[in-house]
Amino acid sequence: MKIKKAVIPVAGLGTRFLPYTKVVPKEMLPVWDIPIIQFIIEEAINSGIESVLFVTSKEKYSIEDYFDRNFYLEYFLNKNKDKEKLSVLNRIPQNFRIYSVRQKEARGLGDAILHAEDFIAEEFFAVFLPDDLIFSQKPVMKQMIEVMENYNKPVLGVEKVPWKMVNSYGIIKPRKIKKRIFEILDMIEKPDIKDAFSNLGVVGRYILPGNIFSFIKKTKPGVKGEIQITDSLRILMKEQGILAYEFEGIRCDTGNKYDYLLAILTYASMHKELRKKIKRDIKKIFKINL
Ligand code: G1P
Repeated sequence: MKIKKAVIPVAGLGTRFLPYTKVVPKEMLPVWDIPIIQFIIEEAINSGIESVLFVTSKEKYSIEDYFDRNFYLEYFLNKNKDKEKLSVLNRIPQNFRIYSVRQKEARGLGDAILHAEDFIAEEFFAVFLPDDLIFSQKPVMKQMIEVMENYNKPVLGVEKVPWKMVNSYGIIKPRKIKKRIFEILDMIEKPDIKDAFSNLGVVGRYILPGNIFSFIKKTKPGVKGEIQITDSLRILMKEQGILAYEFEGIRCDTGNKYDYLLAILTYASMHKELRKKIKRDIKKIFKINL
């Protein structure tokens, strides 16, 4: 069975990036020259996704506009025979359908995903959290879809996070099935270090079953008084089972300023010329030998 639909929650206010995010969505921040959301859409399309539902909010129009055509700009660049800029524009993915729904209040990730109920009729669908940018040879969602196809179970993308950071993640209690694949025995949202089952944290990639919505509706507000998808998944896990997959790739959290800077450096380090220049300039800035 193919996974063709993805849900991408983008309703967050991005307060960690104020004042910038007063008018520009955090998903539109560039990593070098490409907005974060483009990386996410490229991963989705390269994993076989054909339709995307943005769970959006006020002041987020630019995300949808970005993937739309801008005829005046195209006309202008054509008139000036600016092939280079035209080709940059043409690299923005167009071959997918966009839907959107408004989340009027910030009531948590579970609530955001619940907004997709009318959009999903399939057995499984994908969820991408755009804060988590993952650079990999094979798109991470594609890796996860292969696991889902083998086991016919929901799959959560996980990675080992630093122990002192477990309180920022959904943390799983794993039972190893095979290299990189675990059965989830329990899970907890943003635990204190003493309550963490492991340091395997759920990152922003989920393959969820189409019946998740009934579990979200049964979920009481949890951490921060919000409807947490981890809590809904915990109920579902007991009835149907869920797998975790430790993906191959380098994850960058673009959700805070420092890690966002690291994301840009990580991206740059993958390009030969940029890598050289950055190494040289960092030495200069910090007066160090690398
Ligand atoms: C959300 C989820 C959490 C997950 C994290 C991954 O938290 O609730 O389970 O580990 O994304 O980035 P947030 O970062 O939105 O607080």
